[in-house]
Amino acid sequence: DPKINIAIDGPAGAGKSTVARLVAEKMGYIYVDTGAMYRAVTLKALESGLKDGPPEAISALARGLQIGLVPAKDGQRVSVNGDDVTDLIRSIEVNRTVSMVAQIEDVRKLLVDKQQHMAASKGVVMDGRDIGTQVLPDAEVKVFLTASARMRAERRYKEMDGTAMTLDELELDIQRRDRMDAEREVSPLMRADDAVLIDSTQLSIHQVVDHIIDLCKEQI
Ligand code: C5P
Repeated sequence: DPKINIAIDGPAGAGKSTVARLVAEKMGYIYVDTGAMYRAVTLKALESGLKDGPPEAISALARGLQIGLVPAKDGQRVSVNGDDVTDLIRSIEVNRTVSMVAQIEDVRKLLVDKQQHMAASKGVVMDGRDIGTQVLPDAEVKVFLTASARMRAERRYKEMDGTAMTLDELELDIQRRDRMDAEREVSPLMRADDAVLIDSTQLSIHQVVDHIIDLCKEQI
């Protein structure tokens, strides 16, 4: 079968990564979590004390990073210059800062370039905010996955067992990131004209996955 590319965009906590991973598994494709790449740059910026540093310093730092995404049983391991940062990039500190780092135009250019290379031979399921609009505008299947803010907060809450945040705090954090991601100048979170909208508030993960697999079959 010819391979296609699948773009899955949407706001924080809509279930993109779980869904994208399962779709990739079913299709025998590679899953690329682009949020993890922005998180990896953010982690290194924080470690270098560049949280409020000039954007040029953060993009220069980003250029020196070797970001690795390696498929694993439990999803995907993320490394930076050989060090495993899979858990570190999910910290509250990274959550707080990532949308700021993701606004830096040169950081985006660098990561978008890497992402386009990863998808050049097709057979990729990529999730993020700008995949259908900027990274893979020619993806054969595009999905915009969303859910109510409350539902997204509840799902995140269950994921992060032992979290220091309450459900209400999580919902506020999600709404704040939605706003920053949707309102930024460069590649804002936006549904591509040709993306299929899936609202997962009332759907199970498997219903969403099956819907996307059906969309893929139509294209192959
Ligand atoms: O998907 P995840 O929640 O891990 O993404 C973290 C942050 O990275 C998002 O809130 C957004 O600011 C940024 N991001 C982005 N473009 C992408 C993927 C993520 O700007 N393609």
